[in-house]
Amino acid sequence: MEVIYYSGTGNSRYVAQRTAKIINAECIDLKALIKDNKKFSFNSEDVVLVTPTYAWRIPKIVENYLLENDLSKIKRMWFLMSCGDEIGKASRYNEKLCEKLGCEYMGTGQINMPENYIAMFEVPDKQEAEKIVERANEKIDNFASLIADRKKLPANKEGFSDLVKSVIVNPLFYKVFVKADGFTVNEKCVSCGSCVNNCPLNNIELKDGKPSWGNNCTHCMACICYCPVEAIEYKNASRGKFRYRIEALDLKE
Ligand SMILES: Cc1cc2nc3c(=O)[nH]c(=O)nc-3n(C[C@H](O)[C@H](O)[C@H](O)COP(=O)(O)O)c2cc1C
Ligand code: SF4
Ligand code: SF4
Repeated sequence: MEVIYYSGTGNSRYVAQRTAKIINAECIDLKALIKDNKKFSFNSEDVVLVTPTYAWRIPKIVENYLLENDLSKIKRMWFLMSCGDEIGKASRYNEKLCEKLGCEYMGTGQINMPENYIAMFEVPDKQEAEKIVERANEKIDNFASLIADRKKLPANKEGFSDLVKSVIVNPLFYKVFVKADGFTVNEKCVSCGSCVNNCPLNNIELKDGKPSWGNNCTHCMACICYCPVEAIEYKNASRGKFRYRIEALDLKE
């Protein structure tokens, strides 16, 4: 078994690593592969994909990356989606992805983790985020034990509004909101390069020691949330908000 994950601010990595430990599987970081533009050939028949939820579906960059790689050995695929609220009808697209990849769809598990989308929503403070992760642990462990037994994950309760969000709002969301235009940097910047190193799409370069954003952004929030001096803002939306990333939390085992 293999657990493959993509993570902007650490939630999905946390879910992946906890799951991998329980099911005794290797854990592979897709963000590093995407960033380095490396191909990957999966060796396992059973794969668990762990991702954040972006507009009620798995992130587009993950789906695109998987479709560009050799996944012919995979026979069964489980999906674990970390989210701040809910995953809508993501299952429909995960099932379609399995059809394209020629493997059996083994279900989608929703795991509520701290919201990280500081460019758009309120995010929990540190204490609240720690409580959310603590609550998520039980869910992760339950999904992992089903996966360990090669069982399908139970279907989520999904209604018409979920369909609208995943089918109609998702493409509009990418078109209208997912742009790097809103990022700015202030005088606190110490030219450390963390934003450059954290960007999965290599969309940032330092010009005269300050970050400059290009046009290839997936709104993962890594640049803004990992800046050690909080020198990055997203329009006015991020002002005064906790820079959420899982490393900022004190988590119990
Ligand atoms: C671009 C973007 C879109 C998001 N869309 C959703 C969503 O549709 N539903 C939801 O519940 N959370 C949404 N979130 C919140 C994240 O899915 C959630 O915080 C996730 O656990 C972050 O995972 P990561 O730390 O591994 O990147 C979104 C976050 C971002 C950055
Ligand atoms: S992470 Fe922050 S301090 Fe470091 S270069 Fe980027 S903006 Fe500047
Ligand atoms: S520019 Fe920032 S938000 Fe956009 S993909 Fe890169 S790290 Fe993520």
